[in-house]
Amino acid sequence: MQLTRMLVLALGITVAQAQTPIHLIPQPVSVQTKSGTYRLTNSTSIQYNQPAGKATADLLAKQLNGPTGFSITPKSGTSGSIQLEINTTPDAKLGDEGYTLNATTKGVRITANKPAGLFYGAQTLTQLLPKEIGSKTAVSTNWTIPAVQITDYPRFGWRGIMLDVSRHFFPKEDVKSFIDQIAALKYNTFHWHLTDDNGWRIEIKSLPKLTSVGAFRVARTGHFGDRADPKPGEPTPYGGFYTQDDIREIVWYAQDRNVTIVPEIDIPGHSMAALAAYPELSCTKQQVSVNPGTNFADWYGNGTFKMKVENTLNPSDENVYVFLDKVFTEVAALFPNPYIHAGGDECYKGYWAQDPGCQALMKKLNIHHVEDLQGYFMGRVEKILAAKGKKFLGWDEILEGGISPTATVMSWRGIKGGIEAAQMGHNVVMTPTTFAYLDYNQGDNSVDPPIYATLRTQTSYNYDPVPDGVDAKYILGGQGNLWTEQIPNLRYAEYMLYPRSWALSEVYWSPKAARNWPDFVTRMENHFDRADVAQINHSKAVYDAIVKTSMNGDKLMLNMAGEIPGLTIYYSTDDTMPDQFSTKYTQPVALPDGPITLRVVTYRAGKPVGHLITLSRDALMKRAGQ
Ligand code: ACM
Repeated sequence: MQLTRMLVLALGITVAQAQTPIHLIPQPVSVQTKSGTYRLTNSTSIQYNQPAGKATADLLAKQLNGPTGFSITPKSGTSGSIQLEINTTPDAKLGDEGYTLNATTKGVRITANKPAGLFYGAQTLTQLLPKEIGSKTAVSTNWTIPAVQITDYPRFGWRGIMLDVSRHFFPKEDVKSFIDQIAALKYNTFHWHLTDDNGWRIEIKSLPKLTSVGAFRVARTGHFGDRADPKPGEPTPYGGFYTQDDIREIVWYAQDRNVTIVPEIDIPGHSMAALAAYPELSCTKQQVSVNPGTNFADWYGNGTFKMKVENTLNPSDENVYVFLDKVFTEVAALFPNPYIHAGGDECYKGYWAQDPGCQALMKKLNIHHVEDLQGYFMGRVEKILAAKGKKFLGWDEILEGGISPTATVMSWRGIKGGIEAAQMGHNVVMTPTTFAYLDYNQGDNSVDPPIYATLRTQTSYNYDPVPDGVDAKYILGGQGNLWTEQIPNLRYAEYMLYPRSWALSEVYWSPKAARNWPDFVTRMENHFDRADVAQINHSKAVYDAIVKTSMNGDKLMLNMAGEIPGLTIYYSTDDTMPDQFSTKYTQPVALPDGPITLRVVTYRAGKPVGHLITLSRDALMKRAGQ
């Protein structure tokens, strides 16, 4: 910069004043940077031209006043230095959620057709301010906004994040913080996974045991999935649930932030918490416990499995449908979203196969495979939902055993369910494990707590939700899914969300043609700094080496890569701590024989970044499939 100025002076030419770099996530449709800045002060005013703009104006003022220490009070009008304008003549290209933002040296004007667009313009405005805008206390800095002209609107109408509050309970204030965070990234859908084997989290007044029993489990520590079974009569201190007042409060809170909530009641499988409360709804009617994370299933590696403890509702029992009618009557009344997600995933049919009632039902329905009972069950559920004015949405297993043409499918087992569903004319929400599962670990299994798969930020970033050969009109959009078996609290939820939810926000919001990984990396690093100020946790696994091995004859080959540009990888195999004077990795190499340990570090611009990765020969051999 200095050098440019000197050259400019020396050569006697003039150039535009340097522009402040802009680091927006998700990337807008169009950004034209201008010279100059607008400086926010205590005399900055926020005005809105229509009452519908007040909610965003108030939220924005709150967001600005805290860290700046200013006391901006929004009011109705057309001459605010920050002006929020609902278009009196709609601008067709902006749709319901788009906006324009014009920042000059005089102020900022945001226009939109609808309040949602103003809200998103305000989120962009916040990201144009220095990172200190995320501070939890008032700080002093130069509150400047670079002059810029932005036009922006989303690629998809459904931009979601799912949070599982069953495996671990997230208190109401945490859920609100989660909603704040996703709304700031222009996600508009919060898929709330409210029930599962490990806790029922929504108050159903007509079925009080769902929460008095189903929301609480025995206390356990240690790896989820390997924990000890509950003992008879053991106290159940862990858990919690949302009262209906809590739910209404959260729904309103979300609405102010243009977030709609899709509730999920996961049936007929994943129902152990409900069965702990009402065991008569299962086939065996045996008392089960709300599961604290035991090893309750045998997995066979190809997606098939056997439940060692019953967790399915009995599809042949009319009382089950009476129960579901009560549940969905209350759920439907609480959530304005047109959809209710009724699960349908991972339903083990072994108990159905042995149940005389299910066999009689199969005979009556002329069904020969027990799997097809799920189609019958889901069809009954869809009718119950329709009677409450709700649309049925389920995981892609609902394609098995028959599905009604009006069902919407959430594709999770890769993209094939989504392709099949769209080709059958169903609406689809794409949320495949391979790109969108935020519970998978982000870096090396030896560094991040291991989980059954890894999903790197770059992989999420490179996702395209419209599969080849599919008519885009059936793809409503997509989601990231945060399952919480190994996520005990909000802080760790954040660690797993970021940076992948930044990447996915761009996948679901920004034009496909704007996708640019190196450019995203620059913006991601800026957002690391912003998240630090905002005390939002995030993973830095993108700075770690990707370590792979393979066999070449009897030689163990090492193959490493970096996820982001500019990373240099150094390693040792001689029991020394590696640094930038160790062996530099440039291409696949054969590792020395013997009981070696590989140690890997990464450097960027001459500085160590990322974690030390340490792997024994045994671990390296295992990685090579040996
Ligand atoms: C799922 O991950 N079981 C939908």
